[in-house]
Amino acid sequence: MAVTLSPRPDLWTLDPGVLHLNHGSYGAVPRRTQELMASLRTEMDANPMVWFRTVADRLTTSRLALASFLRTDPAGFALVPNASAGVTVALHTLPIPAGSRIVLTDHAYGAVRYAAERFARDRGAEVVTVAIPLEADDDTVVALIAEHLDNASVLIVDQITSGTAKVFPIDALVAAAHDHEVPIVVDGAHAPALIDAPAAAGADFWTGNFHKWPAAPRATAGLVVAERWRSASMPLIVSWSEYDERMPERFDMQGTYDYVPWIAAPESLEVLADLDWPTRRPQLTALVEEGAKVLAKALGTGVAEVGHAPATMRLVELPSGVDLSGGDMLKMRISGELKAEITFTGFEDRQFIRLSAHAYNSLADYEKLSEGLPRLLG
Ligand SMILES: Cc1ncc(COP(=O)(O)O)c(C=O)c1O
Repeated sequence: MAVTLSPRPDLWTLDPGVLHLNHGSYGAVPRRTQELMASLRTEMDANPMVWFRTVADRLTTSRLALASFLRTDPAGFALVPNASAGVTVALHTLPIPAGSRIVLTDHAYGAVRYAAERFARDRGAEVVTVAIPLEADDDTVVALIAEHLDNASVLIVDQITSGTAKVFPIDALVAAAHDHEVPIVVDGAHAPALIDAPAAAGADFWTGNFHKWPAAPRATAGLVVAERWRSASMPLIVSWSEYDERMPERFDMQGTYDYVPWIAAPESLEVLADLDWPTRRPQLTALVEEGAKVLAKALGTGVAEVGHAPATMRLVELPSGVDLSGGDMLKMRISGELKAEITFTGFEDRQFIRLSAHAYNSLADYEKLSEGLPRLLG
């Protein structure tokens, strides 16, 4: 694929002296959105009383824009602070009888697993972990999960896994879960902007973060709820909307809270539009693939085969013997000495660097990382 669009670091305020190669964790907010947030905060603090009277209408506007970006029915789309909150609402809503099983995979995000464990403990249920080989193709993923759906009260699956940067076949998994009459919760934390219409498969619950690939302000996420669960779904914070029967609206006002990120989030969608995202995204795929190859060559390893890789993340295998047991120590050395931000992940006994690409990255970023990293890992 020919890369025809130029990198646009000018649209961000990221420190140009740092190699920012981990957009996938916390995203990065473009300058324009930051400026809008600053002006909204100035307005809020000029007259908090007036500000809070306007919040509900502004949230409606924002919610509609975010739902439209996901190409989902706004009637089932609620704002939540993050994907963890979305999964927690889902588990709070779904019946989880004693003796039943909450099924997830060994690729599930750690905090989501903790949520499953908490609800299993509280309800006398059991968490069942399905092992999915890293390289598994779509049919294998579905077959392995489908074997574990008997007596399941909930299936939780990632749309794009975090530690293994692997895309799961959500359409087929929703169909398999529904064939077994098992409600399915899709953890789409990484899906917005990487997968078009990510909630279209009709999962019982789908949640995804806008702060990652759409580069929206942090603490902006969505929860898409299938019609049958809408009346039972409640926000995690009990507030004045407790007896509001309108489904997405009752998730809007969560007490005295900083609503600026939710209100400003659509500005980042405008930035993506200006970046010509449908053309840019495949170019970022080409970029991260090339960058991963350059790094793997420098490390003498390879780019991991994950079956179906997402648009903008790749796993590069770490050389054997790299000691990650010091927690963040190595990351801090890489950050301090190499001025590079990367993340390490692992699966079974393998260790990886998970590389990201966003519109501010260029091949030179991966080349510079590749020049300096072997020395720090050695
Ligand atoms: C697959 C997956 N699920 C859930 C989360 C949790 O997201 P948050 O911390 O925004 O709740 C993440 C975060 O990276 C993730 O990658």
